Amino acid sequence: MSDRQALKQAAARAALKYVQSGMRLGLGTGSTTGIFINLLGAKVQRGELHDLLCVPTSEASAQQAASWGLALTSLDHVTALDLAVDGADEVDPDLQMIKGLGWALLREKLVESHARRLIIIVDETKLVTRLGQHVPLPVEIVPFAAMATVRWLQGLASRVELCRTSEGEPVLTDNGNYYVHCYFDDGIVDAEALSPQLNAWPGVVENGLFLNMATQVVVATEDGIQILERSS
Ligand code: A5P
Repeated sequence: MSDRQALKQAAARAALKYVQSGMRLGLGTGSTTGIFINLLGAKVQRGELHDLLCVPTSEASAQQAASWGLALTSLDHVTALDLAVDGADEVDPDLQMIKGLGWALLREKLVESHARRLIIIVDETKLVTRLGQHVPLPVEIVPFAAMATVRWLQGLASRVELCRTSEGEPVLTDNGNYYVHCYFDDGIVDAEALSPQLNAWPGVVENGLFLNMATQVVVATEDGIQILERSS
């Protein structure tokens, strides 16, 4: 196992202790969350946790959770979640995040907005001083007039790319939308202003800035697990 993989494993294992029987639990998406779902499924199968009701944030996570026999539902059937666990692409010192490079940001934001607690599991490479310095900001857009939306986004970012498959077709989200990556040469200077500005454009469905959402961030480092808590 690579060092990075071992760190993801450690973060996922550390988050397991926050899950209690009877919880309504949001399941994120991505490789770190994938490890968490496997650990969770195994724990349920061992009979160490029971009566969980899970709301997945992607078709992939739903399939993975179902393969462990975890009970699944949707936000249509539960009003609030006790806890959601997910990964992130970048986390800044205020626990603001970029998420969605695993194509699931809309469902993640929707599901995690209903969670009383959101625990983020990352390895230390995801910690940054300013969002957008190392990874692009993903934005989900409607296919209609997609290039018009890309042009509008180019006025805000240094560079914008429509995400394509290896066959050159636009990547489709679980919701049938397209994805773009917005690159910011100096990082994102004012995420609080940018997020509503992006979402106000009619072609934009949602953006990958997850602001004031994480309750705790479980960071796996070479020296062990660090728990970062939101101050307010
Ligand atoms: C999925 O859309 C993302 O928000 C993921 O949570 C994020 O990309 C982190 O993924 P990894 O755990 O695979 O790095």
